[in-house]
Amino acid sequence: MKEPKIKIVCVVGTRPEAIKMAPVISALGKTDWAAVRVLATAQHRAMLDQVLNLFKITPDIDLNIMRPNQSLTSLTARLLLDLDNVLISEKPDAVLAQGDTTTVMTTALACFYHQIPFGHVEAGLRTGDMLNPFPEEMNRVMAGKFARWHFAPTEGSRRNLLAESIPEHQVFVTGNTVIDALLHISARELPLGIDIASSRRLILVTAHRRENFGEPFLNICRAIRFLADTNPDVEFLYPVHPNPNVVEPVTRLLAGHARITLCDPLDYAPFVAAMKQAYLILTDSGGVQEEAPALGRPVLVMRHETERPEAVDAGVVKLVGPDYANIVGETQKLLDDPAAYRSMARGVSPYGDGHAAGRIVAPIRAYFACRGRL
Ligand code: UD1
Ligand code: UDP
Repeated sequence: MKEPKIKIVCVVGTRPEAIKMAPVISALGKTDWAAVRVLATAQHRAMLDQVLNLFKITPDIDLNIMRPNQSLTSLTARLLLDLDNVLISEKPDAVLAQGDTTTVMTTALACFYHQIPFGHVEAGLRTGDMLNPFPEEMNRVMAGKFARWHFAPTEGSRRNLLAESIPEHQVFVTGNTVIDALLHISARELPLGIDIASSRRLILVTAHRRENFGEPFLNICRAIRFLADTNPDVEFLYPVHPNPNVVEPVTRLLAGHARITLCDPLDYAPFVAAMKQAYLILTDSGGVQEEAPALGRPVLVMRHETERPEAVDAGVVKLVGPDYANIVGETQKLLDDPAAYRSMARGVSPYGDGHAAGRIVAPIRAYFACRGRL
């Protein structure tokens, strides 16, 4: 009799998780040994659906967990209870999730309680500071404690895991699946769908980190407004994260300016087009720090630290903090100094080569083959 396939639940909660898990879901789906089930917690609703539609992924289970302005505690509690029920009914052989969101941390914990092997995609990123980014650093440390497989994107993330006494044979350097997704989408013709005057240089902005809420966010907005006021040849495009703590200050300080376009979050394909069209990018996003260097676009990171030091070391990403003077100064330098700009606009891809998903699937197959399941 033919052995039943290995049942693998792939969990996605937020926009970046769906982008980064899509290549893994696709790679597993092409095997003849894995039965893939996609679980959407829908920690994000609209932004998750945007990505799932683009990659033609239909969740098998949807927890529809998002509430407007959800608190971390209630999100965690509701996720754990719902995930518990799913694991009881699905009885998967393995579960995979990506990154450092509350979805990932609760998934890893629920798997531990049910003793189901958990694979952590994008493992080993660390700042060493539990409050930065908050709560992501704690989320990824916890997910790492529970993981059977650690899929580290870089040698540096592997070293971080070994320093935490994670057994070497459980760590696999795979590259980051975001580059798989980026190359897949980028290969298509991409309309941005928003008019940007061709005579002007485009600065693309994204920001959403919780530790930047309040005064840091106001500083970010004031810096953008000053730069727009003083550079008539520059246009800003800012797809605004729907978190109410972001929408309120951004709308109050930036709406109505002739050369600042505020818009809803862009679908991933037009967002990739916007990155390609941008002269430079201001962001506090994790994924954008990985994608923009691969596209040769300079990134100024509006955070005090980063868990993605590779592109900083390569000289194509710079930390400016959520700091008014730094954001204004470093942006103006890149606008005015062609040599400084050229040195940051080199295409480098320290985070992957587009084949990370295959390197994630292989050790999972080997694990089940060793146990006589394949
Ligand atoms: C979450 C993750 C963060 C990740 C980010 C990616 C946690 C704690 N935070 O932050 O690590 O970098 O996603 O974007 O896991 N909202 C909508 N529609 C959406 C999505 C969000 O309205 O499609 C609003 C809701 O009011 C929601 C709020 O944003 O309550 C916050 O969402 P949440 O997932 O809790 O945190 P994020 O700040 O999005
Ligand atoms: N992104 C997108 N549309 C947008 C802004 C970002 O598709 O309007 C993509 C971006 O290319 C990257 C991911 O969303 O792949 C990053 O998500 P986010 O910044 O929300 O989360 P983080 O990476 O910081 O966890």
